Amino acid sequence: MNAIPSKLFVAGLVAAGLLLGGCGQDKHELTADGFVLPKGNPERGQQVFLDMGCRQCHVVAGLDLPAYEGVSALEIELGGKRARIKNYGELLTSVVNPKHVISEEYQKLLNKEEAARGDTAMPDFNSRMTVAQLIDLVQFLHGRYEELVPDYRGYRYYYGP
Ligand code: HEC
Repeated sequence: MNAIPSKLFVAGLVAAGLLLGGCGQDKHELTADGFVLPKGNPERGQQVFLDMGCRQCHVVAGLDLPAYEGVSALEIELGGKRARIKNYGELLTSVVNPKHVISEEYQKLLNKEEAARGDTAMPDFNSRMTVAQLIDLVQFLHGRYEELVPDYRGYRYYYGP
């Protein structure tokens, strides 16, 4: 793939990512309706995850990915069982526009002032990642989330005699 147009396209995706979360306030706000990326390849996405250094700060539920030596102590978990699965758009937004929503897990690690600033240690990869890499990466991450099914057994109504 030609690198230059793909980077331009990433810039477009960043704009779309900003809009996905509905940041814009004016009445001509663009929405992300109809925003669909082609299907990615999760195996390649896992490789992108390692190549881009995501493992420096993240662990992925259910996968024992090799860690790098002597790096950040952050171990923010991606994937796993969640009450609400992160949807594709949210994951994509987290990657191209990390400041848009700061994950709850990370907020717990911050003091009040830091949390109020809304800063994130998550770097910006937009000028380094091709669209193809982004597509594979998000497909990989998306597949790692599982819905947590609440266990209601203790609360089941009993209609028997
Ligand atoms: C230097 C540390 C660092 C690196 C490297 C890093 N991240 Fe993050 N990431 C964070 C932090 C801190 C957060 C939590 C704050 C936030 O939501 O922005 C986060 C949040 C996220 C979230 C949202 C998680 C949630 O539960 O809402 C996703 C998805 C994510 N990162 C993916 C990636 C991917 C993919 C890469 C590699 C391309 C990457 N990160 C590289 C630090 C990092």
